[in-house]
Amino acid sequence: MSKKVEFHGSDLEKIEKYYGIPKEEIIQFAANVNPLGLSDSVKKELAAHLDIISSYPDRSYTSLKQVISLYCGCSPQNVVVGNGSTELISLLINQRSAKKALVLGPTYSEYERELKLTGGLLSYYNLKETDNFILDTEDFINSIPNGTDLVIICNPNNPTSSAIFQSEMEKLVRFCRSRGIFVMIDETYVEFAPDIEQITAIPLTKHYDNLMVIRGVSKFFAAPGLRFGYGITSNHEFLSMLLTHQNPWSLNSIGAFAGELLLQDSEYIDKTRSLILSERTRLYRQFVTLDTFKVYKPYGNFILLRILKEDVTSFQVFEAAIRKKLMIRDCSSFQSLKGEFVRFCIMKPEDNERLMNVFKNI
Ligand SMILES: Cc1ncc(COP(=O)(O)O)c(C=O)c1O
Repeated sequence: MSKKVEFHGSDLEKIEKYYGIPKEEIIQFAANVNPLGLSDSVKKELAAHLDIISSYPDRSYTSLKQVISLYCGCSPQNVVVGNGSTELISLLINQRSAKKALVLGPTYSEYERELKLTGGLLSYYNLKETDNFILDTEDFINSIPNGTDLVIICNPNNPTSSAIFQSEMEKLVRFCRSRGIFVMIDETYVEFAPDIEQITAIPLTKHYDNLMVIRGVSKFFAAPGLRFGYGITSNHEFLSMLLTHQNPWSLNSIGAFAGELLLQDSEYIDKTRSLILSERTRLYRQFVTLDTFKVYKPYGNFILLRILKEDVTSFQVFEAAIRKKLMIRDCSSFQSLKGEFVRFCIMKPEDNERLMNVFKNI
């Protein structure tokens, strides 16, 4: 057995070096990026407008904010744009400078990295495997430590692919408001949910000003290199604080131009949703019948599996897949995920079939 090394979703170069597989031949089941790639029509428009590189973007991104507001059903005055959702996550955490933050885990590790940089106290409330990672809202609310001033939630959550419905989220946000707690909700994966309206917290931003929802185009629109993200809050005091600390033109002119096109590309949006929804259901049903794995109901474009076969580790499953040039995520580095877990995202049907064969042979 090989020595255990750790690979993250975007570590293709590391994989290439370690396993000697050219990175172009690897199917990326670990990055959670839409397998359709960048929209063809956006590609054409971009190619025809490369000259925009020679001008600064509109400093207040007025037209882009208008498009975001139509896409999300919110006021353009409540929108902030940034260099990927990563910049906005970082800005928000820095500007809240929380003394005590609570993160709903197990989850994306960037929140912890940013929180540690601000020097406040950080604790986790962990979703329970025995509840299939479905949040018990009451228990969560009752467990929020005294003095907490920031709550961070990823919805749908990476890596569990579980989701909190808007009605439950409202209870949580309402409670937090009563205690003066700000809530950050990362909705990077929300457009993959079977019913977006049931999950998104954007409508809540109209009624609660202790909330900011962050989204981006990296995953759903297969555009991680564009670095376009946006945030929505009705807290204008906080919004102007963010803008004061954000570098001007933080989103470049190509990102702003392509961002507008992406959010209006309804054909691409429909095609993506139809592919992900049908493949996710098909794969989920197959896993339900397998004894080797436990599967959790997925709301994102990825599925979390617990390995039930004794003495088989997540690293062994990772290696079985990478030997077939299929890269999945060994979840052993996720905080609080006790047991052997792997995560993979939905790719094209023929590639999903190849991966399914690996899983069936474990
Ligand atoms: C939950 C979550 N939020 C944010 C990001 C980063 O998004 P962006 O590329 O928009 O900065 C990722 C990337 O993996 C993610 O999984």
